[in-house]
Amino acid sequence: MRRKLLLGNWKMNKLASEAREFAINARPLAELAKKHQIDLGVAPTYLSLAATKEAASKDMIVAAQNCHFKESGAYTGEVSIPMLKEFGIDWVIIGHSERRAYDNETNLKCHDKMAALFANNMVPVYCVGETLQEFEEGRTKEVVGTQIREGLAGFTSEDVKHLVVAYEPVWSIGTGKNASSEIAQDICKFVRDVMREMLGDVADEIRVLYGGSVKPVNVKEYLSCPDVDGALVGGASLKIDSYTELLNNIL
Ligand code: 13P
Repeated sequence: MRRKLLLGNWKMNKLASEAREFAINARPLAELAKKHQIDLGVAPTYLSLAATKEAASKDMIVAAQNCHFKESGAYTGEVSIPMLKEFGIDWVIIGHSERRAYDNETNLKCHDKMAALFANNMVPVYCVGETLQEFEEGRTKEVVGTQIREGLAGFTSEDVKHLVVAYEPVWSIGTGKNASSEIAQDICKFVRDVMREMLGDVADEIRVLYGGSVKPVNVKEYLSCPDVDGALVGGASLKIDSYTELLNNIL
């Protein structure tokens, strides 16, 4: 049984003081989610991780939005996995399309980061998805298939047992232009099929999320799809009211 997962990606939003206030207000939600077998979390900026983690319910997942694959060294501006672990952070978003677009995050880089996370018993949320042009050219499965095959190349079924994958079509992120639930189901199932080919039956235990303009009004429809195990939510996760509604609408 794959537990449902609702994860807010705050991107470059919220001061640490605002993140902390949100975490305090979200304490009862984390408990409510747990009662309903749903995992609930947020991914603040690096600078807000400590404040969020400290203020949040212990049942709330607090994820980083990125990490470096090396433990330490001459990598100006980067943050390593041991640095995250020191603050009790063990979930990390990897390969978000904004990082792929603006920071040259390649499938290979994502692979190295996930290898380091698996070695540290941490949970990557590996993001995949096609651009508008690739979608219009009918290349979604080719692009997403390559992202999965290259990103997860060489891992064992033991490595990936805590992996989470998020399918986020780039054209639906922050645009209000939703992928239909049929598209979300089709591509999330495709992701699982590719993982089954590569890794065997463990693919049925790996959670696959949908992300891209998920709102309180459509979250239930996505989560009703058999291969969509949750949502990675940007804009609608920023305000406690709409975050609360997202959860309430899938209970
Ligand atoms: P929006 O929900 O704002 O479209 O963002 C989706 C996203 O990129 C989550 O990682």
